[in-house]
Order: sequence, then structure tokens, then C-alpha cells
Amino acid sequence: MKRIRKAIIPAAGLGTRFLPATKATPKEMLPVVDTPAIQYIVEEAAKSGIEDIVIISGRGKRAIEDHFDKSYELEDVLLKHNKISELEEIKGISNMANIYYVRQKEARGLGHAIHCAKTFIGNEPFAVLLGDDIVYNEGKPCLKQLIDCYDEYNTSVLGVQTVEAKDVNKYGIVNGIHIEDRVYKVKGLVEKPPVEESPSNVAILGRYIITPQIFKILEETKPGKGGEIQLTDALLKLIDEEAMYAYDFEGTRYDVGDKLGFLKATVEYALRREDLRDGFIEYLNTLKK
Ligand code: G1P
Repeated sequence: MKRIRKAIIPAAGLGTRFLPATKATPKEMLPVVDTPAIQYIVEEAAKSGIEDIVIISGRGKRAIEDHFDKSYELEDVLLKHNKISELEEIKGISNMANIYYVRQKEARGLGHAIHCAKTFIGNEPFAVLLGDDIVYNEGKPCLKQLIDCYDEYNTSVLGVQTVEAKDVNKYGIVNGIHIEDRVYKVKGLVEKPPVEESPSNVAILGRYIITPQIFKILEETKPGKGGEIQLTDALLKLIDEEAMYAYDFEGTRYDVGDKLGFLKATVEYALRREDLRDGFIEYLNTLKK
């Protein structure tokens, strides 16, 4: 069985849900407290045992490359001012994993973005982590939970959670059979169905383990919902060829590509921070009056 060593983080989207902030700044670089959203995702991948990450980038996304690069000038200044803990933190960011970049030249959808990484991935199963979905889990990272499930079933695994009926039209929805604690066998998939047509409330929330057979299918996948080449449509075809499972992961997931989701993440991450918690609570209490 092949180990999951590589991950794709698609980050070429235009971030239209977060304008005007995303006009000149990649949405992946918007900070939740003091850390860019994409750094949480890279940390999750690294903690889950991923060694090589490819970020699918596009026009206007250079700040992401700079963020994960070594910054000699900054390191030098921090060293001269004896700011050792800041120095270690900055160095840690560039050493988290091997990060590579592939540019998606046109915004043709998530399926197309994943296909851009075909040569990088080669013939091994891989992980996908979407930049809009940050998952907080004090214990086992979300991706590690999926990798453990993959180790048991040795085939594709989708990270899912149950969402409210009114929200099914925002997600890829799974039609599955519950086979054991937290695990579904996937029978069907549909991208962003209207609530009355949705097979369930079990939604794909931005984490996947996928076998390399998907690349051949993606080449033939026609544009679907929204005129984009949808990963969900390609995964649906993959079910005809091999088994697929969905894993109901543990953790709090935030949609940081959405303004309200981003605010929730900011408040909850700040409340988890020892250096900010007390002062922040004090401030929040003044708002209640
Ligand atoms: C994408 C996928 C969708 C998935 C969602 C999770 O949609 O197409 O299947 O449920 O991410 O966040 P997007 O949010 O990019 O429109």
C-alpha cells in the first residue's frame, strides 16, 4: 500500500466572496489573528505527515510564495535585535514542508486546478486541502484522521461533516451508506444540489485523499455546475472504477472564504490564544452591555 506523502493546496481562486480585501491580496493570505489562513492549512498537512506540498497558484498570488520562502533580511534584523522566539517562528514557516508551486493559467474550476498537479503527483494517492476550509482540532489533525481511514481501506476517502439542510447547496454532497463509526461507503455524489434534490446532509468540507486514477478522469470531465470543471463530478465517475469512502472527521471547521465564517474563526482562534484571551474576553464583555 502506498503512503500518503504529497498534498495539493488549490489557491488560484479569485476570492470574489471577500472583496475588496482580495482585490490585490490573495484570500489565502488574510490573517486569522496573526497567521495567514494558508499557514494553518500547511501546518495541518505537515502535522499529518505530508512531506511535499504543491500549491496551485495564479496571477496575483506571489505573496504566498514569499510567505513560505526564507526571508534573509527579516531573519537578520530579528537576530540583531535578539528577538529569538520571533526568529525561530519565522524560520519554522519556511521549514514546515517542501513547498512547490504550479500556476493555473485560467480559472476553470477545482477539477482543473487539481489536474494541474498531475506531473507533480505522479502515480500515487495524494491529499487535497482546500484553502477556504480551516479545521481546528486539538488532537489529531483532520487530514491525519483521513489518512488513518485511507490506511484501513486503501482507497479514496472524502472528509465530510453533516451540515444544515439550508446549506447543502454550498457543497459537494455525499449519498452514502453508513458502514461503521464515522465511515460511509460512497454510492453517489452531487455538487451543490438544491435542498429538495439533495441525497443527504453529508457535505464534503475541503479535505480529500484521492487515488491517481482521478487524473485520467479529469481529462475527460466536462464543465459542470457554474460552467467549471468540478472535482465532485470526476470523483463521481471514479466510483464506477473503485471503492470510495467518506470519513466524518472530528474538529471545528471554518469557511474562511466567507466573511461571517472568517469572523467566527478570528474570534474563536483569538479566544484559544493564551496571550490574547483575557484581554479579548474583557473587551467582548464590554460589548454585551
Ligand atoms: C468546493 C467543492 C465542494 C466542496 C467545497 C468545500 O466548492 O467544489 O464540493 O464541498 O469546496 O468547501 P467551493 O467552495 O470552492 O465553491
